[in-house]
Amino acid sequence: MLDPCTYVIFGATGNLAKRKLLPALYHLEASGRLPDGMKVIGFGRREWNDDQWRDAVAELLVPQVRSGFDQSVFDRLRARLHFFRGDLESTQSFTYLNDLIENNEQFPKNVIFYMAIAPAEYSTVVRHLADVGLANEDHGWKRFVVEKPFGYDLESARMLQKQFQKYLREDQIYRIDHYLGKGTVQNVLVFRFANVMLEPLWNRNYIDHIQITHSEVQGIESRAEYFDGAGALRDMIQSHLLQVLTLVAMEPPASMDAESLRDEKVKVLKSIRPIPQSAVHAQAFRAQYASGVVGGKKVKSYLDEDRVPKNSVTETYAALKVYIDNWRWRGVPFYLRTGKRMAEGKSMVAIRFKHPPQHLFRNTQVDKLKPDWLLLGIQPTECVRMEIQVKEPGMEMRTRTSSLDASFREEGEQSYDAYEGLLLDVISGDHSLFLRYDEVEWAWRVVDPILRVWAMERDFIHTYPAGTWGPRETQRLFETDSQFWRHSLEPDEE
Ligand code: BG6
Repeated sequence: MLDPCTYVIFGATGNLAKRKLLPALYHLEASGRLPDGMKVIGFGRREWNDDQWRDAVAELLVPQVRSGFDQSVFDRLRARLHFFRGDLESTQSFTYLNDLIENNEQFPKNVIFYMAIAPAEYSTVVRHLADVGLANEDHGWKRFVVEKPFGYDLESARMLQKQFQKYLREDQIYRIDHYLGKGTVQNVLVFRFANVMLEPLWNRNYIDHIQITHSEVQGIESRAEYFDGAGALRDMIQSHLLQVLTLVAMEPPASMDAESLRDEKVKVLKSIRPIPQSAVHAQAFRAQYASGVVGGKKVKSYLDEDRVPKNSVTETYAALKVYIDNWRWRGVPFYLRTGKRMAEGKSMVAIRFKHPPQHLFRNTQVDKLKPDWLLLGIQPTECVRMEIQVKEPGMEMRTRTSSLDASFREEGEQSYDAYEGLLLDVISGDHSLFLRYDEVEWAWRVVDPILRVWAMERDFIHTYPAGTWGPRETQRLFETDSQFWRHSLEPDEE
């Protein structure tokens, strides 16, 4: 049974609340998972009353919900929604918020504060909440959810953490990385630790290299202000892709409890070989989209997007090679890449195995054996596929690639959005899929040297036409000519 609680959303009329949080709450309502008595307070600056917000929420949900908008589900959700007009800068707003929660019986005293606001505002809000007593747990627990990026670089992450530590205990903080809520990302752990078959192969003796890709066809949409200051390395690699890497590379944890899991992830991040500034060019690559064609339509270049400075060298594509210097992985390159306005929207992990030590088929028509791959599709296709070589039927000795499919979703089995599970985890107090501060800090240490070098190089950035897989020069990251970016989950297309 989940405790009843009050879910306060700071930034209730913002993008994240509209696109992710409110639809997630609706779907949780539809599946009957929200605790009885739970209330949602939307904190925003608009001069709205409860009904105005409720109507706006209904309107934004209609086009977004799965399997059609159900009025009876919404009516149940509607009864939980309250709008609170407030200003993040004003102490008085927080005093009123405290009065409302403390003195009004309908609001449970266990409270979640969700920071769906600009990261620069996190510490002010936490300070205000603590000042008025809303971090105090005398009458119920108080939990604080923060979105990435936690900080802007290593130094600022440390400063932010210091601010948080003044007012909160680590176990009150839920640093969300929504990638960890995705089905296949969690399936990495099941796949690795609920099966014994792959474990003997899961190391430097058998694996040639590992690729982790997140590509999108969309551009930066209306997020220029945030994105131009962040760039793809901070936006995706420092957080989501390094998290996926930790799950692929970690040792089996002592148990599945949050601390054991996070201990193992931190060990991976700590073992990543530091990238000295002199190696940044060999290990990292950045580029920006030029105009091009996406889905048959002409699209603008990054520099022509609204509110992007004309001289910006912010990367919309970033790729990185890292080595994990531990017993299991030493010498195996991990290639990570992400990009906006790419040829396809896709997230996947591709693991390439080594060639057999001896080529026994040299004097046959098998002139070049293809390597085996293990592919984990994260989105839009959720799958686990193993590509192996088999003999082609017929008298000649020829091989072809066959794909063994262990996809975990069967027809009719619903998928859900990552935020749904994560919102429930906060209510139940489960930290497993949230980042502990040391994980964030070690992830910043990996990318910090690259950010510094790129920040100094203001004159040039490679470009790629929108709608493509990025510039050819990114190939320079690979160790050998036989390595190349794997874009597809299908064997024939490579
Ligand atoms: C966010 C990034 O964290 O993740 C976005 O800020 C990115 O730039 C998004 O588009 C990708 O996540 P998803 O789940 O929409 O693929």
